[in-house]
Amino acid sequence: MSEVHQGRRGFLTALTVGGGLVAIGGATALVMNAQGSSDYEEAVNSTWRHGDNIDVPSSSARRELVRYATLAANSHNTQPWQFRLSDRSILVLPDSERRLPAVDPDDHHVFASLGCAVENMVQAARAFGLRAVPSYDLEARGIRVDLEPAPSEGTDLFGAIPHRQSTRAVYDGRSVPPEHLRLLEAVGSGDGVRMLLFTERQQREDILSYLVAGNSAQMDDVAFIEELKSWIRFSYGEALSTRDGLFSKSSGNPVLPGWIGRLIFSQVFTKDAENRKYESQIRSSAGVAVFVSEKNEPAYWAEAGRCCQRFALQATALGLKHAFINQPVEVPAVRGQFATYLGIGGRRPDLVMRFGYGPELPKSLRRPIEHVIVRA
Ligand SMILES: Cc1cc2nc3c(=O)[nH]c(=O)nc-3n(C[C@H](O)[C@H](O)[C@H](O)COP(=O)(O)O)c2cc1C
Repeated sequence: MSEVHQGRRGFLTALTVGGGLVAIGGATALVMNAQGSSDYEEAVNSTWRHGDNIDVPSSSARRELVRYATLAANSHNTQPWQFRLSDRSILVLPDSERRLPAVDPDDHHVFASLGCAVENMVQAARAFGLRAVPSYDLEARGIRVDLEPAPSEGTDLFGAIPHRQSTRAVYDGRSVPPEHLRLLEAVGSGDGVRMLLFTERQQREDILSYLVAGNSAQMDDVAFIEELKSWIRFSYGEALSTRDGLFSKSSGNPVLPGWIGRLIFSQVFTKDAENRKYESQIRSSAGVAVFVSEKNEPAYWAEAGRCCQRFALQATALGLKHAFINQPVEVPAVRGQFATYLGIGGRRPDLVMRFGYGPELPKSLRRPIEHVIVRA
């Protein structure tokens, strides 16, 4: 899904064109900026942190596992999950009110997001002296994570959880040394899910053509655009009050009062501008990883999510940045052509992620765990 939205230059041009209206809006935005930014920073610091020592297997350990799970990547930052705690297990369920029917009509990304959350839980559990064993629960239509005592082990992937972010920026074009590519390869595949790694220039150009085809189709889709806009948080106030969605600043765009952002959105968020942005993003990346599952079913979508979260954590531990570029797998017609390019037969390519060396952008927020833990 095209989540990077408006280019900075586009926004500023629209502001200048806006004249008097924008003069007032701009002044308001400056004041709101100064106020909101320190509150936002405080919220980020309390969200993206490692916890204190945990008394295992107390209920606080399970709640801490949920907190780590919520720091995972998830589609449009809808945080489409709920967690049901029992004595020795945690059930991770989809939240049907946080679906994205336009971009994700079959809930593929919902289950991939649950898989990302589960992977964080697995890594955190090891550090707490627990073994987390996930399995798909057909009846509950969710992932059951059983917890057993095990030797405690803090891995690099666990260490990376509070530092990971989806970095939607131009990277610096450097390539990744072979020994680090091997580490990425080692974590990217899973049970019924294979990761394909592309680092050659021509391969990245090929993938770019599917990205542009998918993005162009989405930009022509009114339902897709409306859905995307409804999840954008243009101001600090919007981001802080919802603690979900796509905060402008986390995508490298200016913070604006919400009404101005929504007003000028369609002027700056154009097909050509977005496609040009993707060209520079792909060309400056070191490579692209594609996650492909054996079966087109929720359990496998979740496993693909686990693999890509593991990949993202390993990349973060190596000082690499990553960002999803899922347009080639979100538009069914393009997905079929992309599958043919990949040579994967009738399998569904699940997720696409670029990686490389790049800057840090402001982090996104998460809702508190009280909002996502449900009664057993
Ligand atoms: C299944 C899935 C699909 C996603 N698709 C996209 C995408 O196409 N484009 C994009 O920029 N980000 C995509 N994301 C990244 C999310 O927007 C991001 O994880 C979320 O906003 C939270 O930000 P964070 O990863 O920095 O914590 C996707 C994430 C998941 C798990």
